[in-house]
Amino acid sequence: MNQDTGLYCDLDRILLTREQIAEKVHELGAAITRDYEGKKPVLVCILKGASVFFADLIREIELPLTLDFMAISSYGSATKTSGVVRILKDLDNDILGKDVIVVEDIVDSGITLSYLTKILMQRGAKSLKIAALLDKPARRKIPELKVDYSCFNIPDAFVVGYGLDYDQTYRNLPDIGILSPRIYEQK
Ligand code: IMP
Ligand code: MG
Repeated sequence: MNQDTGLYCDLDRILLTREQIAEKVHELGAAITRDYEGKKPVLVCILKGASVFFADLIREIELPLTLDFMAISSYGSATKTSGVVRILKDLDNDILGKDVIVVEDIVDSGITLSYLTKILMQRGAKSLKIAALLDKPARRKIPELKVDYSCFNIPDAFVVGYGLDYDQTYRNLPDIGILSPRIYEQK
């Protein structure tokens, strides 16, 4: 994708390049492979934001894992959380007795994941861990939420690309960039 035109023009700057991301995703895959040796974890992709990260991560894990998908919403089209979390698409399979790894794009306030992890534990998962590509610790509203694996801590800025969107756009950018505030302030 040409970085001088199109979607890239809406960025203030690139925060994480595809090479930096690939290196961290590789390391995370190796860590999960070690930590889950002898197990068959279920990897749960939180749609749609985690889809790109998920596709890369699962191919870095050398275990007999299975996949499932869930869609939840807490955002609408704004850049701040509404605090309201809805399940738009539930898991296809039972997770009773399973080792579950929830794969999310970014942890911001933590509201979405704290709600979700409670629900999944109530369904009888044997264990549950969170793997997030990005973490914005400065914005956490649920301090007790434990992010077990994360690739990058990032500053308090609105980022897009590699699956992350603004108003459903920019998910296909191969790199992660800080969206220029003029894009959402003009709305
Ligand atoms: P939380 O419930 O506040 O932790 O919100 C997490 C969700 O908000 C993520 O799954 C994203 O969909 C969205 N989100 C938070 N920060 C950003 C961002 O900088 N860019 C794009 N989406 C974001
Ligand atoms: Mg999301």
